[in-house]
Amino acid sequence: MNVKKGTFVVLASGRGSNFQAILDRVSDGYIPAVCTALITDNPLAHAIERARAAGIPGEVVSFKSFSDKQAYETALIATIQKYNPDLVVLAGYMRILGSEIVRKYSGRMVNIHPSLLPSFTGLHAQEQAVNYGVKVAGCTVHFVTEDMDAGPVIIQRTVPVFENDDGDILSDRILVEEHKAFPQAIRLFFQGRLTIEGRVVKIDTNQAPSPGRDD
Ligand code: GAR
Repeated sequence: MNVKKGTFVVLASGRGSNFQAILDRVSDGYIPAVCTALITDNPLAHAIERARAAGIPGEVVSFKSFSDKQAYETALIATIQKYNPDLVVLAGYMRILGSEIVRKYSGRMVNIHPSLLPSFTGLHAQEQAVNYGVKVAGCTVHFVTEDMDAGPVIIQRTVPVFENDDGDILSDRILVEEHKAFPQAIRLFFQGRLTIEGRVVKIDTNQAPSPGRDD
């Protein structure tokens, strides 16, 4: 029987290493879904090259081409809707989205943030963690809500913080975990194993994980 796979689009503003990690796990079958587009606000984003290499359409919706945020977001929604995705993935997308778009994709838009939320929201989270002196840091994949970096948490992964770390060293250590956490969360979404109850995400553990996988 031919089962139609779910689809998702990725929004990324820069390097796109998370985008790449997600594409790799689609290719090897770990994520049971199809990535149908990369959408960026930055015409120079390296993520565009990654999309091209993977044969995925890359759409540029450049913030600077629009008169205001409302016009930009109207165009962004139209671009996302061209692909009618089941899930919208924010993978290093560095703009705060307005309420219309967040509400439209409520329960089907996910973001990754390089801290253990609710600690260290906003920019330079890794540097904030180093400066605060925490001993454990990490990343969070969460559903997107109207409050920045405050939506229901799907997965967190941790790393140690050492005394000689700076923001860059800690960023690299966290990034390794981001590249595991994001595919895990997207896989769970497309397996239908996530339920949002209030601000808590319940993960259905009754479905057996596939053998040999890092579930
Ligand atoms: C990642 O560390 C991601 O967690 C962070 O930007 C980086 C993007 O890297 N996102 C945020 O800070 C969002 N608030 P990438 O382009 O190589 O995936």
